[in-house]
Amino acid sequence: MNAPSSLACPFDDVDAWGSAPGRIEFIGNHTDYNGGWVLGAAIDRRVEVGVRFREDDQLVLRSADAEAAVRLPLHAIEAQSGARAWANYVLGVIVELRAAGVALDRGMELRVESTLPVGAGLSSSAALELATAVAVVEAVGGDLDRKQLAQLCRRAENEFVGVPCGILDQAVVAFGADDRLVRVDARTDEITSVPFPPRTGLWIFRTHEAHALADAHYQERHDEARAARDRLDDLLGGVDHLVDVSPDQLSEVQAELPEVLYRRARHVSTEHRRVQRAVRLLRDEAYESVGDLLFASHDSSRTDYENSTDELDFVVDRLRDTDGVLGGRLTGAGFGGAAMAWTGEGFGADEADAVAAAYADAFDAELDVIACRPAVGAFAQS
Ligand code: GLA
Repeated sequence: MNAPSSLACPFDDVDAWGSAPGRIEFIGNHTDYNGGWVLGAAIDRRVEVGVRFREDDQLVLRSADAEAAVRLPLHAIEAQSGARAWANYVLGVIVELRAAGVALDRGMELRVESTLPVGAGLSSSAALELATAVAVVEAVGGDLDRKQLAQLCRRAENEFVGVPCGILDQAVVAFGADDRLVRVDARTDEITSVPFPPRTGLWIFRTHEAHALADAHYQERHDEARAARDRLDDLLGGVDHLVDVSPDQLSEVQAELPEVLYRRARHVSTEHRRVQRAVRLLRDEAYESVGDLLFASHDSSRTDYENSTDELDFVVDRLRDTDGVLGGRLTGAGFGGAAMAWTGEGFGADEADAVAAAYADAFDAELDVIACRPAVGAFAQS
């Protein structure tokens, strides 16, 4: 897990450091906690965590915001709130590392630096979790492989932070690689990768929509998906995961399902199959068809999963009408956050800025444009 030569330690005087990227969800929206496939990419914006041992038994966590520093005894970890709530991602990982048998008995100071925007739908939380996990394991030792660390970080988020997320973010952040897309099968946690098509680009368009209720909406979708699965299992039998039900089977029992649950299930079922098709089409270099699947994914999120917003729809509609764009869609949980574009020749900074200018006219608000590349996943060094 050594650092690539292009990435230098940003801290002076630490015993170990870890680094983990943000991620985009290329395609596979809300499929992960439904047992489906997803394709993502780690990106070249990162969170870094430096570990320095202390002589006492205190755990001290520092981020760029000095006011939000946290200090507590290593053996009395408690959830934080308000400006210190950021620390829960770190604390949850410490709790899970200890539960996994990692020896954590020396006081430590953890310092966090980041070039990854927070709250933008780029998974700064999973990046912080993985950067913490690899840095701490590097510092104190421990026998956990990359997949175990990804699963452990997901547990931290599910249990300590309290968000019922799937494995997408942590798996992609852990397994990202230069110029590769990461494919996750969330039923088996099998992780493979496919080459990112050469001479194509990734762009993120970050809205600044306040999404204070995003976690509550995420929980609601998670619960609706569970309710749909349970109902379909009663009706059809053998439905362990919502993705097990094909679109045809779903149509047959449509009248037996509440309308909202039918649409949630249709999104999950069709989206899983779009990811499978996208993987095949990428191998066949049928890039235009892959791009069409990205747009179809957005439409399905918009109408069936209802996790888009007017702002995200505007960006994606604009991308549809822009030369050089292969595909575009909302990326991540939705309910605000970011949209992404996958682009070919003819799309560059001028075209991206034109999307932002149109957005500014329509909403009187800023749209941040971030160009990125599929990048290396989490690593640590001492
Ligand atoms: C968030 C969650 C992921 C996944 C996506 C939606 O990013 O953390 O597990 O469910 O939303 O696909």
